[in-house]
Amino acid sequence: MKLQGKIAIVTGTSPNIGGGIAQGLADEGATVVCVDVVPANAEQCADWIKGRGGTALGVTCDVTDEAQVEAMVARVRDTYGRVDALVNNAGILGGLSVLEMPLPRWNRQIAVNLTGTFLCTKHVARCMVERATRGSIIVIASTAGHQGQAGNIAYCTSKSGLLNFTRAAAMDLARHGIRVNSLTPTATDPEEGIERGVAWGRPRPEQRSRLLDFPKMVPMQKLPSPRHYARAAVFLASDDAEMVTGFDLRVDAGAIAKYWPWVPGA
Ligand SMILES: NC(=O)c1ccc[n+]([C@@H]2O[C@H](COP(=O)([O-])OP(=O)(O)OC[C@H]3O[C@@H](n4cnc5c(N)ncnc54)[C@H](O)[C@@H]3O)[C@@H](O)[C@H]2O)c1
Repeated sequence: MKLQGKIAIVTGTSPNIGGGIAQGLADEGATVVCVDVVPANAEQCADWIKGRGGTALGVTCDVTDEAQVEAMVARVRDTYGRVDALVNNAGILGGLSVLEMPLPRWNRQIAVNLTGTFLCTKHVARCMVERATRGSIIVIASTAGHQGQAGNIAYCTSKSGLLNFTRAAAMDLARHGIRVNSLTPTATDPEEGIERGVAWGRPRPEQRSRLLDFPKMVPMQKLPSPRHYARAAVFLASDDAEMVTGFDLRVDAGAIAKYWPWVPGA
């Protein structure tokens, strides 16, 4: 048990990546606070962890609203005494090209992906400093933050911003013994998230065919699942990573390392 006794907050706990990371942290002994703007995502994730024998709390919170974020962190501090780890996972995926993007949609995506991470990091880090907790903050980026993807202007911009937010926050917090690292997922195998949703009592969604054959395009020829990100998050949250800060841990089956004209398997 690598996280026994630790208190972790995970934002954006849908059955997909956030739910998978929350489950992975809980399986290593962490008490997990499941935070989401959709109450069912917060509550069902916490219930799922409790049903597996873990300890969890569901909190409804919009990460773009500073008063709500402050109240959420205060509730965790009052309930458990401190926060050891934060996983900034809440995000809005998908998008439009720079030619099409309406300003309100741009503003909301930047607010959730970038400002939400800033606000949660700010208030959790203040709590860590106040309680002298040598904590770990993890930022969920994306391979779309490393490369220019067509038709996804606000997502690419926000995720790229998060990579340097991570390094800058790591510099701000190093003297307090708080580590800040990013974790880069890529196109994710949908099956595990679907299965978790079904286990939470949700209907199985219709399978959507993807425009691109992602598994054929990554060097490892298969896509990561949320559990693979969870293992990386456990490492970054644990004392095993005690000298790791300002780092981006890519769990992308080699996607970013690939030389662009190479088609694996061709
Ligand atoms: N799915 C992928 O292939 C993929 C690839 C790379 C990176 N990522 C990143 O992983 C993270 C999770 O992705 P996912 O596929 O599980 O997406 P998802 O849509 O299933 O989950 C995102 C969660 O964030 C929550 N959320 C949205 N706005 C919020 C707000 N204002 N306050 C609090 N919660 C809010 C949603 O309700 C949802 O539960 C995102 O940051 C995403 O950018 C995903």
